[in-house]
Amino acid sequence: MINRIVVLVVLFTASCFSVPLPSTFKKCNRKQADFNQCLTTAVQDAFHQLDKPYPEVGLPNLKHFIVPVGTIRFGAGTSVVHFTHIVKNVKIDKLADFSSLNASMDFNTNVLRLDIDYPIVKFDFDYEVDGKVLVMPIKGQGSGQIHLKNASMVVTFTLEEKNKYYKLVNSTMTFKKMGGVMINLENLFDGNKELSDRINVVMNENWKGMFQDLKDGYQKINAEVFGGMFSNVLDKVSAAELFGDP
Ligand SMILES: *[C@@H]1O[C@H](CO)[C@@H](O)[C@H](O)[C@H]1NC(C)=O
Ligand SMILES: *[C@@H]1O[C@H](CO)[C@@H](O)[C@H](O)[C@H]1NC(C)=O
Ligand SMILES: *[C@@H]1O[C@H](CO)[C@@H](O)[C@H](O)[C@H]1NC(C)=O
Repeated sequence: MINRIVVLVVLFTASCFSVPLPSTFKKCNRKQADFNQCLTTAVQDAFHQLDKPYPEVGLPNLKHFIVPVGTIRFGAGTSVVHFTHIVKNVKIDKLADFSSLNASMDFNTNVLRLDIDYPIVKFDFDYEVDGKVLVMPIKGQGSGQIHLKNASMVVTFTLEEKNKYYKLVNSTMTFKKMGGVMINLENLFDGNKELSDRINVVMNENWKGMFQDLKDGYQKINAEVFGGMFSNVLDKVSAAELFGDP
């Protein structure tokens, strides 16, 4: 009986105990005057260490990031993209290789904001597509790649502090600038190389219109993915461990 109580008490307290941040992660205290500067360095350092996962704090490998979402369906746009498509098995490369990253936390609104510039971010995926690019038919399935060049983005996390932990209540992701987009869909038209090359050229020549059409859907899924990632951390690491005692 006593033993059983001891076991229960141990289990209960274990589930309430915050996991410490990895000892190599820089920590910042919300009371320090230069908090946002500290947070910026801390997040930059953390990104650079994510060339392996840290499952104890819920963080994935960011160098070769496998998007933990099954099949994603995107609708047609209005200017260039007159096709629906699905993508799956999405992998992102170079998510840790930012050229500039600033982090800030507003403790009045509980909004954490990241401003990130990337020279290049590479997506690999499997796709299925059926419809038209401008007026030209596009159809097929296979693997594809998209490279975003000189991309600037803003990610926000709206948090709520509850029982010594933060919970994520909302996340957003917004592209601020896009220098260029390279797109390549392999095996279009059952592998007809001539048609396939032609449609890939058309898509790349019209990348601005493609990006405008696809932006909202891509931002939404990115917000969900970043939000899910950060939510895993918040489930394990207490508010005090993240930012010091209030
Ligand atoms: C980060 O802040 C610095 C200094 O204010 C600025 O020069 C840089 O453009 C910012 N980077 C991003 C990605 O916003
Ligand atoms: C999340 O934030 C966005 C942008 O501020 C807003 O449009 C959306 O309604 C919010 N969603 C929730 C669930 O609060
Ligand atoms: C990206 O930025 C670099 C450095 O500013 C520049 O040399 C390059 O031409 C840019 N590329 C695109 C596609 O905007």
